[in-house]
Amino acid sequence: MRSELEKEYLLKAIDASKRIFFIISPDFEILATNRYTTEKYGPDMIGKKCYNLLCDWESPGDNCPALNVIQGLEPVLRKKNNEDSSDKWTTCRYSYPIFSGEKIDAVAVLEFDRPSREEIEEQLRHANAFFKNLILSSVDGVIAADKTGRILIFNDAAVEVSGYSVEEALGNLDIRDFYPGDAAREIMQKLRSDDFGGKGKLKSYQVDVIKKDREIIPIRLNAAIVYKGDKEVASIGFFHDMREDLRIKSELEKTQSQLLQAEKMSSLGKLSAGVAHQLNNPLGGITLYTKFLLEDYDLADDAKKDLNRILQEAKRCSDTVKELLEFARQTSHMVKPNDLNKALLRTMFLLENQTLFQNIEIEKNFKENLPQVPVDIQQMNHVFMNIILNAAQAMDGKGTLTLTTKFAPTGDRVIVEIADTGPGIPEDTLKHIFEPFFTTKEEGKGTGLGLSMVYGIIEDHGGKITAKSKVGSGTTLIIELSLKTANEGGKESGE
Ligand SMILES: Nc1ncnc2c1ncn2[C@@H]1O[C@H](COP(=O)(O)OP(=O)(O)O)[C@@H](O)[C@H]1O
Ligand SMILES: [Mg+2]
Repeated sequence: MRSELEKEYLLKAIDASKRIFFIISPDFEILATNRYTTEKYGPDMIGKKCYNLLCDWESPGDNCPALNVIQGLEPVLRKKNNEDSSDKWTTCRYSYPIFSGEKIDAVAVLEFDRPSREEIEEQLRHANAFFKNLILSSVDGVIAADKTGRILIFNDAAVEVSGYSVEEALGNLDIRDFYPGDAAREIMQKLRSDDFGGKGKLKSYQVDVIKKDREIIPIRLNAAIVYKGDKEVASIGFFHDMREDLRIKSELEKTQSQLLQAEKMSSLGKLSAGVAHQLNNPLGGITLYTKFLLEDYDLADDAKKDLNRILQEAKRCSDTVKELLEFARQTSHMVKPNDLNKALLRTMFLLENQTLFQNIEIEKNFKENLPQVPVDIQQMNHVFMNIILNAAQAMDGKGTLTLTTKFAPTGDRVIVEIADTGPGIPEDTLKHIFEPFFTTKEEGKGTGLGLSMVYGIIEDHGGKITAKSKVGSGTTLIIELSLKTANEGGKESGE
């Protein structure tokens, strides 16, 4: 049971409401009204017939909501036909039965305003425009298609990635045109399956799309099926162009492997330098004392021959030590602008007449007016000499040696290519050729230090060296050197 206080508050609340509120008996007599209603219709409403007082009728019409409630025993909501209601709001009358047991005791009538249809439509239009804008301005590409594959939504980012205009997409395209081969069907299959982010959903799926100009673009796709009830009506995909991400990833991987290579070179370099220093003195001793023996004693020819052999071997040791020291060299170098065409010619001049080169054809594809490149020319001679000797050795004295100089496509670098028609280098060997002590030559023929030294020198110059090879057709070493000096960054050298 309600307390007196509770009843009092309920009454006060009804009275304080600025809405029409009254109660009528089952025979349409007004039983009670709130204060607002009395203020609107006059003080003596009680006991009057509502159809008479409020609707100006002689009897309740068929349309009378109170009658409907009394007959139907259900609440009735009706729009009130009043002229002065503004466009935005419609006044409604809610009439509901009050029961006493099974029987209807009275009917309460409450008037309130609610937004008009126009207003609701306007709000809907606003909301729609907002969502449309949201989709159109999304940084990710958004494409929606109906069940037949016809494009329904195609935002600016989709235009950018695909190269199609919105008109082209909405007019003539089918969603299947965006994907190579059967990919569109596969996406739909995955969407319908439970295994890729839930039924009707596909999360973070990597796939290719075909641009208008047939370029293939990798994308990451989040897609969903749009249902109405449980019927599929459309599909929508949000996607992200992966090219930049993939480029950064591969750059990172490259840098990482370069770092690893540099690290390996540097530690091996230090080790070699240490060993070379250790060997230098005893080698000097061996040479010196052997010479003393040869000079100071009248020795038998056999003994002389053996001692000369010792000298010869010691010389070979000290040559290797020299190469090692050169490889690990930390001396400052003399960088000056130099003509690399001339440097190559000079190296060839020294080598051409050696027997190794007699049956080797030499082709020179020199870029005319090649700008001068800041290098230490002594070291560069060393580089060319080593690579060319390797090439000649690989060709075993016959074949074609091609020397090429050119600009890199970016225009700020010069490229030197030294190609041979030798046996080539198998892939798993190619990985190792720049490593110190890596050689495939028989003992005494190779130290395995040539290319590691070359590598160090090119790195020192801020350049890059790579090798390309195909077993059976030959090997090309490619050197890229910047027209700017390594240490001075943007400043041109030689100024
Ligand atoms: N032009 C080439 N053709 C085939 N193999 C080559 C060529 N240049 C280098 N190589 C391979 O790389 C290895 C390392 O070369 P390098 O460092 O100069 O040492 P070395 O010449 O003393 O063996 C060689 O032993 C050889 O296997
Ligand atoms: Mg060599």
